[in-house]
Amino acid sequence: MAILVTGGAGYIGSVMVEQLAEAGEQVVVLDDISRGHEGALDPGLPFYRGRTGDRELVGRICREHDVDSCIHFAAYAYVGESVTEPKAYFENNTVQAMTLLDELIANGVRRFVFSSTCATYGEPVRVPIDEGHPQAPVNPYGWSKFFVERILEAYDRAYGLRFVALRYFNAAGATKKRGEHHEPETHLIPNVLAAAAGRLPYVSVFGSDYPTPDGTCVRDYIHVTDLCSAHTLALSYLRGGGQSEFINLGNGHGYSVMEVIETARRVTGRGIEARMEPARPGDPARLVADASKARAVLGWKTQYPELEAIIRTAWEWHEAHPEGYPHSLPEGLPKA
Ligand SMILES: NC(=O)c1ccc[n+]([C@@H]2O[C@H](COP(=O)([O-])OP(=O)(O)OC[C@H]3O[C@@H](n4cnc5c(N)ncnc54)[C@H](O)[C@@H]3O)[C@@H](O)[C@H]2O)c1
Repeated sequence: MAILVTGGAGYIGSVMVEQLAEAGEQVVVLDDISRGHEGALDPGLPFYRGRTGDRELVGRICREHDVDSCIHFAAYAYVGESVTEPKAYFENNTVQAMTLLDELIANGVRRFVFSSTCATYGEPVRVPIDEGHPQAPVNPYGWSKFFVERILEAYDRAYGLRFVALRYFNAAGATKKRGEHHEPETHLIPNVLAAAAGRLPYVSVFGSDYPTPDGTCVRDYIHVTDLCSAHTLALSYLRGGGQSEFINLGNGHGYSVMEVIETARRVTGRGIEARMEPARPGDPARLVADASKARAVLGWKTQYPELEAIIRTAWEWHEAHPEGYPHSLPEGLPKA
């Protein structure tokens, strides 16, 4: 019995594959490498290059590997790009996810762990954000994931699909072997570290008069290995007959942009210039998870709750891989 990991050449998916393989699970990876890296793959594991919406391919993988569950990371994940290219986001994140689900169910696969996002909540009306918080996404990326959540609910009722939809806050950090390499990089921690390493001249801080202790935005950072361990627990929960659930994954603790920069200065021992820029429309002051459901339902415990440890592992990976993964993107594939 194998676990199909879609998006397993991406940041979080590749760490998931590493953890599953270490735990002795059979894993098969499907990724079109549109935004991932061949260098993030484990050459010893089966890998299929293709899209999640390729029914024929998904069916073949299920049969060849006796797939019994799927962890679905594959998606486009740039909020800004989703505003200018909504069609690509709905097609890739929603339509292809539905095709994937249809083919999985046709092959008897009824356990599904889904990468959802706190972007499905939209502007918070209360913080910390629990799973009962209203969902009103403010961009097509958030909607593309919201729609998949609704498809999952309907497929649960109609076809007996059992799922855990994990609504992540901000993933960060690295393992010894795998880390974060996006092009372009929009996430704060890798950009702060790029500035520490001299690859960026400075870090932009968008907005300094938010109603937060130091005036900069507060976000909830969760270490990528903690995030992945929650997926392993979600799978065990489903294998044990658990019912479908929506669960937040966050630290439950917020850090401001300036706290991130100051912690990175300490960890790296480098000067990092911070430039104040105007606030970006639609950037909420605070996004912090109430992650108590993950602890209660999945028995999840974080190993790296401290920002310093999260940044330290990311820095170690960036020091060891100053250019990130080697460039292996072939011509003609979609690239942000
Ligand atoms: N990184 C975060 O902080 C964060 C926060 C919330 C949610 N998420 C979600 O987690 C998931 C993983 O995020 P990530 O940061 O690892 O992203 P990533 O871009 O590094 O990885 C996504 C992978 O999916 C692949 N992919 C995309 N569309 C595909 C398709 N149709 N078929 C096959 N492969 C495809 C890409 O090539 C890439 O390797 C995404 O679904 C994202 O929306 C991430």
